[in-house]
Amino acid sequence: MLVGAVALAACHARGSAGGTSAGVSADAGASAGADASAGAGAGADADASADASATTSSLTPFGAPTAIPKYSCPVVLPGGGFRSFLSPADTKVAFVDGDDLLALVNRSPTGALPPSYAPRDLVDARDLSPRSAGECEARTCLRKEAATALHHLLDAMRLEGMQGRVESAFRGFGTQCWVFAGWASKAHAGFCEATTQSALPGHSQHQLGTTVDMFTSDWAAHGEVFRDGFGCTQGGKWLDDNAWKFGFVVSYPIDPDDRKEGSRCAVRWDHPVPIDPKTGYKNEPWHLRYLGESAASQFHAAWLASDPGSPGEITLEQWLRAMRGLAGDTELPVCDGCQCSACASMAADGERAPCGDAALQLDADGRVTAPAEEPALLDASATTESDAGAQGGGRTVVVEAKVHAPPHTPTQPPVAGDDGPAYGDGASFEALVPYPGTRPHRYADLPGAWRVAVEPLPSPHARWPWRASLAKPSLAATWNRANLVLPALAGDSVVRVRVTLPKGTSKLAVTLLRDGAEHGTRQIALDVR
Ligand code: DAL
Ligand code: ZN
Repeated sequence: MLVGAVALAACHARGSAGGTSAGVSADAGASAGADASAGAGAGADADASADASATTSSLTPFGAPTAIPKYSCPVVLPGGGFRSFLSPADTKVAFVDGDDLLALVNRSPTGALPPSYAPRDLVDARDLSPRSAGECEARTCLRKEAATALHHLLDAMRLEGMQGRVESAFRGFGTQCWVFAGWASKAHAGFCEATTQSALPGHSQHQLGTTVDMFTSDWAAHGEVFRDGFGCTQGGKWLDDNAWKFGFVVSYPIDPDDRKEGSRCAVRWDHPVPIDPKTGYKNEPWHLRYLGESAASQFHAAWLASDPGSPGEITLEQWLRAMRGLAGDTELPVCDGCQCSACASMAADGERAPCGDAALQLDADGRVTAPAEEPALLDASATTESDAGAQGGGRTVVVEAKVHAPPHTPTQPPVAGDDGPAYGDGASFEALVPYPGTRPHRYADLPGAWRVAVEPLPSPHARWPWRASLAKPSLAATWNRANLVLPALAGDSVVRVRVTLPKGTSKLAVTLLRDGAEHGTRQIALDVR
């Protein structure tokens, strides 16, 4: 029953009855109290906070790893029962310093806050009165600086004739556990669907005390607030355009590929909108995170300067990663058993993650570890598919590379389709269109990642113009549009690359490429045409 009540609030802690209206008026948290008591059994044990300061090693790009002595967050499954999808190793260390306004909180094992973390300067968002994390379970709270900025934002909305409405703000680890469980227990959703729109506990920006789910009273007057379409309302558009001026940023925008032509927003009900590959979540036009005015302005400038076509508009996730010198578009997803083959895990041997061999392994500092054994190119062949390319160029051949990859070998996109990477005429590893109607994407080399590379000889242009992932093709649907480290398909597999060859090509070279270096190059002789 309690979980059902939480489920009504979608991925957010409070149902609409618990919302806070513009001016941050009085009825905050009426149902949040129920959520809090529902979550009383979840989260870190009481003694966790004392030990959580036990920093284990040096600072990494993610932060200083912090030991978590105890962790509990059962996940409710449809039909009853509890099961944790996280590997035990992934619940022993947290990297994120929650006090950092620019903390990198995401779906990765490295993007988690300790269960014991709560800001020490929480205030009631209505009257700015200081409150403990416990008191905030029944209130709408934020860190003081964010709450003050929120008042300014709400004032500005009022001047525009809109009544802002905060539906959810700070959520402690235990509350997030039960919010997630509510989503996962929905008959039509389930655990995997829940991960696309609700953060696992420890992985929510709401735990930072700087994040609000913001709507308008008009929107709330017409039903459940967490429904599709808010982004295209006057309020949704205004927040997208203006929240940064008050220090707030939309964390989970819509990917340009998923928008209708010429539109900045998406109503979401007219066509299915998948997760944004650069955030790992579906579009949430209401989820605003406070960074501070200066950082929000810097992010906004970076967003304006980014190219919507290729490589695509920058998201907050990417911007925060870039500030830490991290490569790739996004961090790896939590090893949650849904995206097996796109998992990352801190799990060591003998303490396996749900994805087992089909997961990347991270060391204690959160860095991807490569197995000692390297992958091998076992064989390479080419079959002519057609004699003339679509643009009247050379013939099209399908190159088949037989590869052996040890478990946990890092690779990277492009991955596309169940038939293997399918490159259009004129495409290269830098400009692949993975789905009909989507834009070309660039997949710059990620350090340490292995790919199959193909080159026509004599080579008229770039070295190794075609580069394909060793990951299993079914990953394409979820992850193909983000440039991130993926785990290779372990064991023997065949990677297929369709290429249209320049006229006069007499040979093909095929290799495994890592950091620009060739490994086990083979040549395939062709009859010259
Ligand atoms: N809905 C966002 C992802 C959260 O749960 O924090
Ligand atoms: Zn939110």
